[in-house]
Amino acid sequence: MGVRECPALPLLLSLLFLPLGLPVLGTPARLICDSRVLERYILEAKEAENVTMGCADDCNLHENVTVPDTKVNFYAWRRMEVGQQAIEVWQGLALLSEAILRGQALLANSSQPSDTLQLHVDKAVSGLRSLTSLLRALGIQKEAISPSDAASAAPLRIFTVDTLGKLFRIYSNFLRGKLKLYTGEACRRADR
Ligand SMILES: *[C@@H]1O[C@H](CO)[C@@H](O)[C@H](O)[C@H]1NC(C)=O
Ligand SMILES: *[C@@H]1O[C@H](CO)[C@@H](O)[C@H](O)[C@H]1NC(C)=O
Ligand SMILES: *[C@@H]1O[C@H](CO)[C@@H](O)[C@H](O)[C@H]1NC(C)=O
Repeated sequence: MGVRECPALPLLLSLLFLPLGLPVLGTPARLICDSRVLERYILEAKEAENVTMGCADDCNLHENVTVPDTKVNFYAWRRMEVGQQAIEVWQGLALLSEAILRGQALLANSSQPSDTLQLHVDKAVSGLRSLTSLLRALGIQKEAISPSDAASAAPLRIFTVDTLGKLFRIYSNFLRGKLKLYTGEACRRADR
């Protein structure tokens, strides 16, 4: 994919990993079209998923947290309007961000929060913030609000999880599934 448009990639990457709470300003529109950027977040998500796999007490959230459905039916996806795909990804991203922030708050509140778990949750919070900026820069909101699509959009399918392990599995699946599919197609549309 078009690396040529991002000559200063290392610098841009370092700009993305700003401390939490700072908005990523002036994100170049096509930065996310460099596949290395998304792959980096996917790797982080997989690492978090790995670390929390089989983790019991420490990963119990003691609460049901709402997350988006990450299953993708490729046949149905291809037949969806672009606007509907954008809405699913954008709403999914928002819901997942809320869920991870909730997980972060619950973890911080536990009697002996594990440093490793906190690190992975913090990375996920930061990753979701960056991905939100990157997709906004790519124009996802414009694609998501086309009125005819908004009216016909199916309500977002959701369910709940009660452990960090399940939460990270959703995070990882969402990035590798709907988000990656949408991004790949949106980057090709932007090429035309
Ligand atoms: C996850 O764990 C498996 C088995 O322990 C390992 O092979 C794989 O490389 C790990 N993946 C990541 C992204 O850490
Ligand atoms: C989560 O929801 C399930 C099903 O509604 C319920 O059985 C369970 O007690 C809830 N867990 C917590 C921690 O609230
Ligand atoms: C943190 O724990 C306190 C005391 O158990 C509780 O009152 C508070 O609601 C908890 N906060 C969160 C974010 O769960």
